[in-house]
This record gives sequence, structure tokens and C-alpha cells, in this order.
Amino acid sequence: MRAVTDSSPPSGSSPGSTPDSSSGRPPRRPRYRGTHPRRFDEKYKELNPERFPGEVAKAVARGSTPAGSHLPVMLDEVLAALRPRPGDVYLDATLGYGGHAEAVAQRIAPGGRLVGMDRDADELPRAAERLRRRGLVVAVRHGSYSGAAKALRDEGIDGADLVLADLGCSSMQLDRPDRGFSFKNDGPLDMRMDRSRPGTAAQWLATASREDIETAIRDLGDEEDADDIAREIVRRRESARPLDHTADLVSAVLAAKEIPGEKFVRDSAFTAHPAARTFQAVRMVVNRETEHLSQFLRDLPWIVRPGGRAAILTFHSGEESLVRAAFEQGAEQGLWMSPLAEPLVPSSDERRRNPRSRSARLHVGIRLDAPPAG
Ligand SMILES: C[S@@+](CC[C@H](N)C(=O)[O-])C[C@H]1O[C@@H](n2cnc3c(N)ncnc32)[C@H](O)[C@@H]1O
Repeated sequence: MRAVTDSSPPSGSSPGSTPDSSSGRPPRRPRYRGTHPRRFDEKYKELNPERFPGEVAKAVARGSTPAGSHLPVMLDEVLAALRPRPGDVYLDATLGYGGHAEAVAQRIAPGGRLVGMDRDADELPRAAERLRRRGLVVAVRHGSYSGAAKALRDEGIDGADLVLADLGCSSMQLDRPDRGFSFKNDGPLDMRMDRSRPGTAAQWLATASREDIETAIRDLGDEEDADDIAREIVRRRESARPLDHTADLVSAVLAAKEIPGEKFVRDSAFTAHPAARTFQAVRMVVNRETEHLSQFLRDLPWIVRPGGRAAILTFHSGEESLVRAAFEQGAEQGLWMSPLAEPLVPSSDERRRNPRSRSARLHVGIRLDAPPAG
């Protein structure tokens, strides 16, 4: 795990723009067909929010996430659960775009400390730079939250008053075709959150047994057609060529589900894509998400100071049951306050504005001052 120094690209050189360093003129916009940009890298206005703030507001108003950014999920509920106060130490275990972090950091000033972690070294310097530009004091660490206890020790901090883990992927990861997380846009089948680690999705799908693929897709994706999908993946890799692009995996899932065509056309943002569950499962395997989350949950009572609060946003049943079980066990041991509140769900208004929030569940734990005697 590494502390991150600021290595964000100079302003104006974010994706989607073509820097023109020789002339000092603003970057030229990429060429695209038609009147509106469609592909991620063509949305140069949304990708340069400092220069085009109005475009970002327009994208949010029409219910989409501006390219290159991420809308924090259940922000009001997270703030109400964590109750940040000036002087608090806040660990954001999944910094992402820094949306939650910015709102919490404003409330722990003056005197508070924000430590932001993320496995994704691509986005981390950009998030840190954004927070620093807003005058917020932030220490950022590249690494998994399974190493959060050590990260805090390395920062000279003996515990956090507030911890947030907002699980899963950011919109930036999902939207960038070259990251290979998306069933919407074709790209290399990568799916690694931390690209310094070996083992892409393509490599796993090329080498895993049919049984392992089926088990992963069924257990981590809750996918009822897991057996047909695993069989189709293996048939294709043996008879055709390796699946090395996201479109290859989409095509295998559509064929296994007997959905005609190479592309699935959704009738609304609320219709789940037939490949969504398979992509989720493969992503979880590639990033060993269950192992990292389990380790984080084991350490959490020792990361949060007595009297402190932890909030965890989950997005599917597997994550949810791990988090519930950890809090319940901790409550039985007198580490977390009980009874535990039922997880909160996003408002219907938020689900409409931000379809990516629709499966979110917010779990909250309050660390007891001391385990009860006896
Ligand atoms: C949903 S996004 C967080 C968005 C953030 N709350 C915001 O408001 O911008 C999830 C982030 O968690 C990161 N992540 C996933 N697994 C992680 C892990 N084990 N350790 C650290 N970060 C992780 C991902 O790289 C991604 O950036």
C-alpha cells in the first residue's frame, strides 16, 4: 500500500480533450459524428467540468451521470448516519470520485482529518486534486480497504471516528470502455480495479474450469442461467477464439439466454441488462471482492474508535449478507450497538434521478464505548 503524491494530469488534459501545449490555447474538442457526442471519450464538455460547469448540471438534470464523474449515492442518509463533527477523523475507504468525502470533509473542518483510500490508482490522484482544490486537507492511500488498519497506522492515526465504505465500482470505472467493466461499450475484458495487479477477466475466463465459472456466476451474480452461460463461454473459447473483449462476453451471455442479436436494446434505464449479473460476478472474482470485504469487516471494530460510526453501502445480496453478519456478530460481542437498524434504501426520487443507486442498501454500525462486562 502506498501513500499517493499528487500526480493528477494538468488541468485541461483530462480524457476527452486534446491538449494543445504549443499554442497555450484551450484543448481542441474531439471529432464525432452527428450533433451530439455519444461515446465516452467524445463527451469532452462533461469530462472538463471546470471549463463547462453548465454541461454537468444539464447531464444531472436529465437523469444521467456526467461522463468522468460519479454521483454519491444516498448522500443525505450517509451524512445523517455518520453525523460528522468538527475535529473528527474520517476514513473514506472507497474514495472514488470523492463525492461523499467532500461533503463529510466540509463538516469535520476545522481540525478534522480525512484519509481517503482506493484500490484504483487511475482515479485516486484526480479525486485528491479535486478535494485539495476545494481547500480540503486530505491524505490519500492507494490500496485495498482490507489494509485500512495499517493505512491509518502509517498516517499516525490510532482510529477513525467515522468510516464509510461505498462498495463496488464507480461510474468512472463503469463508463470508461478501456477498463473493461461495461457491457454497454466494447473494450478489453480487463475489470481490474487495481491495474498494477495481475489477472484480468479475460485471463480468468480463458483458464478457469467450467464448474468454477458456473459457481461464480450463480453465487456472486445470483444468475439463474449460470450453467448455460458457463457452458457457452467454454464452448466459445474451445471452438472459436478466447473471449478478450467485453462484447465477446455479452455475446456469449445473449447466446446462452437465447436472446437474438449481438446487442441488447434496453427499453428504459431501469431494465437490467441480461449480462449485468455475469459481469458483476466476473468482476468480483477478478478483484477478489469477497475476501477483501471479509478482511475489512473483521478489522472494522478496531478501525472505528469507541463511540465512532461506520456506514457501508452495499449493492447486492452477497455483500449485504456479509455486512449484516459482521455487524450482528459484533453486536453479540458488545462491539457494535444493538439492536442494529434495518438497512436504509434510497428514496424513490434518488432512484429516478440516479438509476445506479437503485439496489443500494445503507448499513450503519455504532461502535460501543467498551464491551459490556461479563
Ligand atoms: C462506488 S465507488 C465510490 C464512490 C465514492 N463514494 C464517491 O462518492 O465518489 C467505489 C470505489 O471503491 C473502490 N474499491 C473497490 N474495492 C475496493 C477495495 N477493496 N479497497 C479500496 N477501494 C475499493 C473502487 O475502485 C471505486 O473507486
